[in-house]
Formats: sequence, C-alpha cells, structure tokens
Amino acid sequence: MFRRALAWGALLAALGLALAARYGLGTPISEELARQYDLRPVVLPDGRGLPPGEGRVEEGQRIYAQKCASCHGENGEGYPFNRLVSEPFPITPDTEPVEYAIGNYWPYATTLFDYIRRAMPFGQGGTLTDEEVYHLVAFLLYMNGIVDAGTPVNQKTLPQIRMPARELLELDPEAKRRFPWLTLP
Ligand code: HEC
Repeated sequence: MFRRALAWGALLAALGLALAARYGLGTPISEELARQYDLRPVVLPDGRGLPPGEGRVEEGQRIYAQKCASCHGENGEGYPFNRLVSEPFPITPDTEPVEYAIGNYWPYATTLFDYIRRAMPFGQGGTLTDEEVYHLVAFLLYMNGIVDAGTPVNQKTLPQIRMPARELLELDPEAKRRFPWLTLP
C-alpha cells in the first residue's frame, strides 16, 4: 500500500518535472544561492550528517559563558529563556513543561548538534563553527549528567550516547500498524 503510494508519488513528481521543463518553470539552484539560503546539512538521529570535529567539556563551558549563559542561565538553569539542564527524570504527567530539557526530554544527542548549529545563539543561528558546536554539546551533555568530563564528543561517539528520554519515545500504534518495517534509531 505504502509502496504503491510511493510509486504514484514518484510518477507524479516525474510528470511534474517533465511539465515544468516543457513550460520552462523553475531554475536549478546555483551554488551561490544555496550559500545565501544557508542550506546546512541535516544531522539525523543515527548521526548521519555529523561533520568531523571533537568537543571537550572545558572548552564548551568557556563558550557557553560567552554566548549562551545570558539567555539560558549561568548553569543552564534557564532564565530568561529555556532551561537546558534538567531534572527530574523520568518526567511524569505532573512535570511542568518548563522543567522539560535536554536530560529528561531529548531522545537523541545528535539532535542537540543539529539544533544548536542551526538555531543558536538565538537570532544568530549559523554563526558557530562545527568545532564550537561540538564543545557546547559536550558541555551540555556533561551538565545533564549524561557524559563525564573526559568524554570526547565526536562523529563516532555522539550517536552512541543513549539519552535517558530515549526510553520514553515509541512509535505510535497506528504508525506501527501501517509501517511494520519501521523502527526508531
Ligand atoms: C538571545 C537569547 C539566546 C541566546 C544568546 C541563546 N539562546 Fe538558546 N534559546 C533561546 C530561545 C528563545 C529558545 C527557544 C526557541 C524556540 O523555542 O523556538 C532557545 C532554545 C534553546 C535550546 C532548546 C531548548 C529545549 O529544550 O527546547 C537549546 C539546546 C539552546 N537554546 C542552546 C543554546 C546554546 C548552546 C546557546 C549558545 C551558543 C544559546 N542557546 C544561546 C534564546 C537564546
């Protein structure tokens, strides 16, 4: 069923492209424009898309104090914006949403890399180097009690980190029924 829908989708997409070509619609995007739109690659939960580089907690602490603490609190306790260091785990239906943070709510450590590189510091997303992002990820994982101070955080180790909240994540029963082959990383 899903495969058939996919085949139809592909067919329609091909038809669309053929018609677009025939009527001269659309333009291939140039390297220059792609750079302007800042199309950064996505990092997937299983780590695909992570760039080379390595983060260290101590270095992350230094960058955090300069670029993040003013909005997220000196120790990630979260003022004036989101809390980044969390307890308690596990969250329960009574946990206040402001208590949700990396240590009790984020299912994948790799997402932290993707999100920070893309969106932080708020309003200046995309200004951090990959190396800086790795340092910040190392620091935030450390502050949440997920890695110890000596753990190098890189392309290889980051996808192997099991986040506490991963156990809260499951496929919704309807998705399971319709796509029995689907598993979560
Ligand atoms: C000017 C204020 C500001 C600065 C500086 C800032 N942030 Fe944020 N941050 C925000 C806001 C606002 C949000 C919520 C954005 C949203 O929900 O769309 C946020 C959200 C986040 C989140 C997601 C929190 C969650 O659990 O939903 C992370 C992680 C984060 N910031 C990390 C960082 C890091 C790392 C830095 C330093 C490089 C940083 N931020 C600097 C304002 C800031």
